[in-house]
Amino acid sequence: MANDRRHIHLCLAKMSDNGAEQKYIQEAFRTNWVAPLGPNVDGFEKDLERYLGNDVHVAALSSCTAAIHLALLLVGVKPGDEVLCQSFSFCASSNPVTYCGAKPIFIDSEAETWNMSPELLEEAIKSRLSRKPKAIVVVDLYGMPARWDDLTAISRKYEIPIIEDAANALGSTYKGRPCGTFGDIATLSFNGNKIITTSGGGALICHDEATKKRAVFLATQAKEPYLHYEHEAIGFNYRMSNISAGIGRGQMTVLDKHIAHHKHVHELYSSLLDNPGIFRVSTNPSSDFNSNFWLTTILFKHPLDTEAFCLQLDKAGIEARPLWKPMHLQPVYKNAPAFTNGVSENLYNTGICLPSGPWVTDEDVRFIVDTVLR
Ligand SMILES: Cc1ncc(COP(=O)(O)O)c(C=O)c1O
Repeated sequence: MANDRRHIHLCLAKMSDNGAEQKYIQEAFRTNWVAPLGPNVDGFEKDLERYLGNDVHVAALSSCTAAIHLALLLVGVKPGDEVLCQSFSFCASSNPVTYCGAKPIFIDSEAETWNMSPELLEEAIKSRLSRKPKAIVVVDLYGMPARWDDLTAISRKYEIPIIEDAANALGSTYKGRPCGTFGDIATLSFNGNKIITTSGGGALICHDEATKKRAVFLATQAKEPYLHYEHEAIGFNYRMSNISAGIGRGQMTVLDKHIAHHKHVHELYSSLLDNPGIFRVSTNPSSDFNSNFWLTTILFKHPLDTEAFCLQLDKAGIEARPLWKPMHLQPVYKNAPAFTNGVSENLYNTGICLPSGPWVTDEDVRFIVDTVLR
């Protein structure tokens, strides 16, 4: 998808101005490292480890969905197990539970971060003590950090590991600590609409070298260390290519610039849409939370047909989307148990996301705001 200036997209990939991505790709071609391993993969992993700090280990993978799948396997999720999942998210946060033959149990959100409600999480765990869930999948949705202190305390109390889906949240922090470092295992996405891209790709973040080794082993078809192909486990083809990782290395040079831009766009929307009688623009609940504002989201005070509203914006050349439809309301999950409080359903019925990516100019924001108000 080219950057078509007649249409303002939600978040379109933008390469660095100085061609850093191309330099890494050309080097891969020159040295014939055109494979799902190589110096760019190692380099990109090191770049992310440095950026996230906190002694994390990173495995670069083909997608965030793949990373969540591997994370579930690594914490021991087996067929028939139950996994507690944030309902208000993209399907990729919970679909991998089904890939494992396990069952998702959906947990609603709390009103300020829109992420997993600690109260409902504990209620769900207590209701299933005879058959303890194997994992909890928490999301830092739209870039907003979840309530990590509360969620981590519950995870420790009941000894259930957390998988942090930080697909949207590279560069966000909670109490100064980066998203992607809170879960026992965390994941990132670098698909074409994220804060940085590798065209398509993801990463698994863990806290010890052995877990990373196991993740890479499973991501490369679980080949035992023999010249002939020997397999004692079922593996996957989930590694990132050296070409994609080259794009990632180049994108790391503009990550801070992209984050600053997303925050600037959010601030501009907040000042121009300052009309509490009609809208509420998403905001950090307190100084503990520092969202990258991957997408700026607004809530209308009263429910409206968000689908029709976004179609009207589309006619004006503006890509907008209703907020995620919660997983517990999706036909495919109609039989999954859910612990609900109405928060995510209300968000879905009253909210939309607005263009926020690196191509969106101040002039675009003013045009979008005028169109929304009209
Ligand atoms: C919250 C969330 N989790 C997971 C994913 C999946 O990422 P990927 O496309 O890299 O598999 C996305 C993608 O948009 C997402 O928004």
